[in-house]
Amino acid sequence: MAIQLIVHGGAGLVAGEHHAAVMATCSAAVASGIAHLREGGTALNAVEIATRILEDDPLFNAGYGSVLNRDGKVEMDALIMDGRTFQIGAVAAVSRLKNPISLARRVMEATPHHLLAAGGAEQFAAEQGFELVPPEHMIAPRQLATKSDGDTVGAVALDSAGNVAVAVSTGGVRGKLAGRVGDSPIPGAGGWADNALGAACATGVGEGIMRALLTFRAVNLLETHGAQAAAEAAVALFEQKFGGDGGLILVDREGKVGIAHNSPFMPVAWLNGDQISAQVAQK
Ligand code: GLY
Repeated sequence: MAIQLIVHGGAGLVAGEHHAAVMATCSAAVASGIAHLREGGTALNAVEIATRILEDDPLFNAGYGSVLNRDGKVEMDALIMDGRTFQIGAVAAVSRLKNPISLARRVMEATPHHLLAAGGAEQFAAEQGFELVPPEHMIAPRQLATKSDGDTVGAVALDSAGNVAVAVSTGGVRGKLAGRVGDSPIPGAGGWADNALGAACATGVGEGIMRALLTFRAVNLLETHGAQAAAEAAVALFEQKFGGDGGLILVDREGKVGIAHNSPFMPVAWLNGDQISAQVAQK
């Protein structure tokens, strides 16, 4: 059975001087997740492993290095979903977690809920033994000095047992109002996974992605379209009907990938045969 892992580093403007670095981190994220899948590991673990690597790189708008809201604070959202069980874990508007994706997974596995927000999510994190860092420690110097390049990170995977999973993590949009939550932690918007079809992960301006329920739409297009055609059809509708701005990655049940965006750039990396391919996809 095929395995696959594809990651993205966020739709948006990626300065040329950063292209090599973002492709290197995307490739490293795929390499780590694929190593796990080659040992028989799960798609769920693989997307978490890959997303943590992207969260840790301050070049990406997720985890450390997230964009700042209107009050100069980091507020992050994340979601993980298991396509085998339809179980979901998500967190919204958290400021003190280095790796929100791992807290999202704990919400999925240790609570009867799907989404915890803000102070309640951080209280749960503390109870579960997660380190809570001072909020200012999540602010990378480049966020004070420059404009962010991209939006959101994410990963979708297929494991050797035929299970698909998705993980998404973001700092949201620069200058957002405190308490604003985007698409990323919303099932069917930021991410969706269904073993019968595949899994998808979105990036871009969250309000449009929520209006379109972009990843639910893209995954369901796999009933009638190939992977790349489904991604392109979903993004075309996203733009034309919902006025959306962004993109998505997806994987089907055979491990074929789809990549589509209407943003200027979207860094991606995936398993291409035996090799890892990486590119800053451009419009
Ligand atoms: N796509 C991330 C956000 O809008 O929050």
